[in-house]
Amino acid sequence: MHSDRPAVTVLGAGSMGSALAAALLERGHPTTVWNRSAHRVRPLADRGARAAATPEEAVAAGSLVIACVLDHEVLHTVLDPVAGSLTGKVLVNLTSGSPEQAREVDAWARSHAAEHLDGAIMTTPPGVGNPEVMFLYSGSRAAFEAHRPTLASLGDPVHLGADPGLASLYDTALLGLMWSTMTGWLHGTALVGAEKTPATDFTPVAIRWLSTVAGFLTTYAPQVDAGRYPGDDATVDVQIAAVDHLVHAAAARGIDNALPELLKSVMERARDAGHGSDSYASVIEVLKNPAGEERP
Ligand SMILES: NC(=O)c1ccc[n+]([C@@H]2O[C@H](COP(=O)([O-])OP(=O)(O)OC[C@H]3O[C@@H](n4cnc5c(N)ncnc54)[C@H](OP(=O)(O)O)[C@@H]3O)[C@@H](O)[C@H]2O)c1
Repeated sequence: MHSDRPAVTVLGAGSMGSALAAALLERGHPTTVWNRSAHRVRPLADRGARAAATPEEAVAAGSLVIACVLDHEVLHTVLDPVAGSLTGKVLVNLTSGSPEQAREVDAWARSHAAEHLDGAIMTTPPGVGNPEVMFLYSGSRAAFEAHRPTLASLGDPVHLGADPGLASLYDTALLGLMWSTMTGWLHGTALVGAEKTPATDFTPVAIRWLSTVAGFLTTYAPQVDAGRYPGDDATVDVQIAAVDHLVHAAAARGIDNALPELLKSVMERARDAGHGSDSYASVIEVLKNPAGEERP
């Protein structure tokens, strides 16, 4: 297949690697794919991908090598034997991991004269290729700029900075936000569901509320950066009174109260640390310093 788009290699054709390769093929990139279990490459080959028999053959085919395997250990299992072939290429690691692992891969890639970007995919496989979906990257800015048009085939590429650990750091923080939000939504859904309200009735109201909550975050972010939390909208004391209503309503309906109790406990710790008349943003003080130690 002739194409003026850059050739790309994808190592790993699991659920996510297959979605990445499919998006690249969709946008006309000559795409070579290797996977440990060859059968998973066949549907991609049917769509025009070149199936590589070995990681070495795959790496040789593209100047941009995207790796998306199970974890960091598997990444090294696949890449270590072909390290020499990566020289002069750009390795984009989309395998999930910790910031420390991303920094380790960066040093490893540099030691083999390869450039490296670490990335975090902020969607599930069906979202790959949607230009609205964020792909977070960190590491070499030059490599990012050089390959931005290719990376844009996967989603909206966002470069966070030269420190290769940043994408993983944001990824873990954002997943925590997602789980907290989804569990809060499910708790609310269980609560209203105890009074026979279907989730499909509650959810549009919940989504409108989330956009108001997003406004609170915008208000509170500068307070967090300044370390000053004027309680001129709603104080921690007011929220503690309100969370008791949630604890009571859940208990009265036999709904698990672990999440409301956790929320109440961090609010009370903020109050006990002297933030009762501050805004909710002051809760960050007990999160940053759980032991409540005096700091200079
Ligand atoms: N799925 C998502 O929604 C999502 C979202 C964001 C990030 N991610 C990240 O993307 C990465 C891949 O996830 P996935 O959903 O594609 O998982 P998956 O479907 O389970 O695929 C795992 C991949 O790793 C390969 N692999 C596992 N052990 C291996 C080994 N010992 N040697 C060589 N290859 C090995 C598998 O090859 P075989 O086919 O031969 O087993 C397969 O290509 C993970 O780091 C995940 O956290 C996934």
